[in-house]
Amino acid sequence: MTDRRNDQDNETQKGGSADSDPWELFESWFAEARTKEINDSNAMSLATVDQFGLPNVRVVLMKELDRRGCVFYTNLSSTKGTELQSSHKAAVCFHWKTLRRSVRLRGRVERVTDKEADDYFGSRARTSQLGAWASKQSRPLRSRFVLLKEVAKYGLRFGLSKVPRPEHWSGFRLLPDTIEFCREGQHGIHDRDLFSFDKARNLWSRTTLQP
Ligand SMILES: Cc1cc2nc3c(=O)[nH]c(=O)nc-3n(C[C@H](O)[C@H](O)[C@H](O)COP(=O)(O)O)c2cc1C
Repeated sequence: MTDRRNDQDNETQKGGSADSDPWELFESWFAEARTKEINDSNAMSLATVDQFGLPNVRVVLMKELDRRGCVFYTNLSSTKGTELQSSHKAAVCFHWKTLRRSVRLRGRVERVTDKEADDYFGSRARTSQLGAWASKQSRPLRSRFVLLKEVAKYGLRFGLSKVPRPEHWSGFRLLPDTIEFCREGQHGIHDRDLFSFDKARNLWSRTTLQP
């Protein structure tokens, strides 16, 4: 990639290799996005499929990232929650417009542990916690007033005590077996690198793709 060489040099100095380790590269692109994108650098389009194989896509926020994959939280009974629990597969796409870069990840999804979900839920604003109880995400809503009444109802129910995580609310970790990096190149010719995980050899391999 045009200036991937710089990323690669940096990674090599840090002891890793962006040539064979997509996580190093992802972390360095994400770090840059965090400083340069004004809003929601952790926003990603999440694609699932329904029971007929029809794709569905919406935006969610990545809340954790490590070498296993990226974590997002949602209502388990929502459309996406149902589809994820049925297919156990997903794809996400980050698009950092300011940087003119995108990263796509595809693979298996698994539920985070209850402890991880409790910890994250506990860190959310109280109104978001009450919203998680009140909203039957993806179901029809008669009016915003009805929802606000539900929020108030749970506010009274929990009073001044800690709001527990509802059972219908948790997180998923996308465990990618492919990660693709795309960067705008000169004259509209983009640079694309696809990393694929080879389970047998327990390592990532990199292929440059035509734009
Ligand atoms: C910027 C932004 C961030 C969002 N983040 C989340 C999120 O982290 N989790 C979530 O469940 N919904 C999030 N949403 C709402 C989803 O895009 C979507 O409307 C909702 O989850 C219902 O999707 P579904 O009916 O396909 O399940 C976000 C929306 C926007 C605009």
